[in-house]
Amino acid sequence: MSVSAYAATDQWKEQARDEWAAGAAAWRKWHAPFAAMSRAATDAIVRAVQATPGMQILDVASGTGEPALALAAAVAPTGAVVASDLVPEMLADIEGIARRQGLTNLACRQAEAEELPFDDHTFDGVTCRFGAMNFVDAPRGLGEMRRVLKPGGRAAFVAWGPRDQNPFFHATMAPVLKRVQLPPPEPGAPNTFKFARPGSLSEALRAAGFRQVEEESRAIRWVWPGPVEEFWAASREYGPSFRQLVRHLPADEVDAAVAEILANLRRYGDGRQVDFPAVIVVATGLG
Ligand SMILES: C[S@@+](CC[C@H](N)C(=O)[O-])C[C@H]1O[C@@H](n2cnc3c(N)ncnc32)[C@H](O)[C@@H]1O
Repeated sequence: MSVSAYAATDQWKEQARDEWAAGAAAWRKWHAPFAAMSRAATDAIVRAVQATPGMQILDVASGTGEPALALAAAVAPTGAVVASDLVPEMLADIEGIARRQGLTNLACRQAEAEELPFDDHTFDGVTCRFGAMNFVDAPRGLGEMRRVLKPGGRAAFVAWGPRDQNPFFHATMAPVLKRVQLPPPEPGAPNTFKFARPGSLSEALRAAGFRQVEEESRAIRWVWPGPVEEFWAASREYGPSFRQLVRHLPADEVDAAVAEILANLRRYGDGRQVDFPAVIVVATGLG
């Protein structure tokens, strides 16, 4: 990597830490409905890593706790899960949630994916849900995940499919993007849709040394268990990409953009819940 590429990575890392830390209180506040909304993605990764009692699993970029909590339930009583994240503020409530769920086999550890503080070949399984696209150095982060996996152990990843197949993003982002001209993401920079192109995540996994890599696109439901207005309030608070976009909007355009966003969202709401179709990418590989 060139000196300037290192400088870019350092700058992205600082930005990532600041952005995720700024949203952490909101992520924690909305943890329960978000866990409900993302249930199908949780189930997909728990199945993909083949979690069974007794396994030792590392979850990378755990955020406020999913899928780490579901994995802890799946490997109990003899297995254990380490939930890790770049940002300690994200992890702050997870052990308390685990205790309230009767789980005693989950520990949290602040850890940067690109420099995991674990010995080689420590874990039977490693997982990362909606995280790898946010790594500032994805090849290095994926390589670290393979390093800490036991030979023959299984890694499982969930990433977002294309934006236009995910109205959850499209409905909120399109009214902003039509009002502001943003440059395309710099090559290699963190980007929510980095692994949306079919085959791109499996290419990255093979390049990181994983064997028997498999990838599939899967249609799921992404259901917020409350009215549209609540979903919008939450997304506005915790969605990092949305917060960044709104910053670029001219002040006199904000109200019009928000009215358009709410109109878009109401197409998916019935007053009780907001029911989006969604497409995720599920990929696995062996260490
Ligand atoms: C979209 S959230 C996903 C959280 C959770 N896995 C989920 O599916 O809800 C992305 C998370 O990645 C974390 N993150 C970003 N860059 C990271 C890095 N380089 N190493 C570890 N975690 C990172 C952020 O702090 C944030 O908690």
